[in-house]
Amino acid sequence: MIVEFLCEQSGGPCFYVGRSMKEAHQGLKIDEKDWNESARLLVDSMTELKVPNPLPDKVVAFVVSLKPDIVGKWSQLGQTSSPEVNSPMF
Ligand code: HEM
Repeated sequence: MIVEFLCEQSGGPCFYVGRSMKEAHQGLKIDEKDWNESARLLVDSMTELKVPNPLPDKVVAFVVSLKPDIVGKWSQLGQTSSPEVNSPMF
């Protein structure tokens, strides 16, 4: 699902049929620690796979743009992001 989502968002040719990032992650109580660990795994994977520049930076920038919909204590849809979830990833 993540691969399809990222593939579609970066121009295709895949089609993502899952929920929005906010819907999928609301209520999961994903915090900064979870976020940083996931980001580290993503960066480590791209390093290990020798993904050529500038792709890793682009992927990280895109993923960071999704952070407000993923990190935080979402209790209901339509809630806007709170300032504390907008700190830089590294
Ligand atoms: C930008 C980073 C992330 C992306 C692009 C992403 C993407 C996705 C996608 C596409 C799904 C499937 C949605 C669906 O089933 O409709 C999903 C589900 C899920 N994600 Fe993420 N995710 C991200 C970050 C995280 C983080 C940081 C965590 C926790 C450490 C997390 C935990 C989960 C869990 C537990 C589910 C399953 C939810 C359920 O089935 O109810 N995700 N994510």
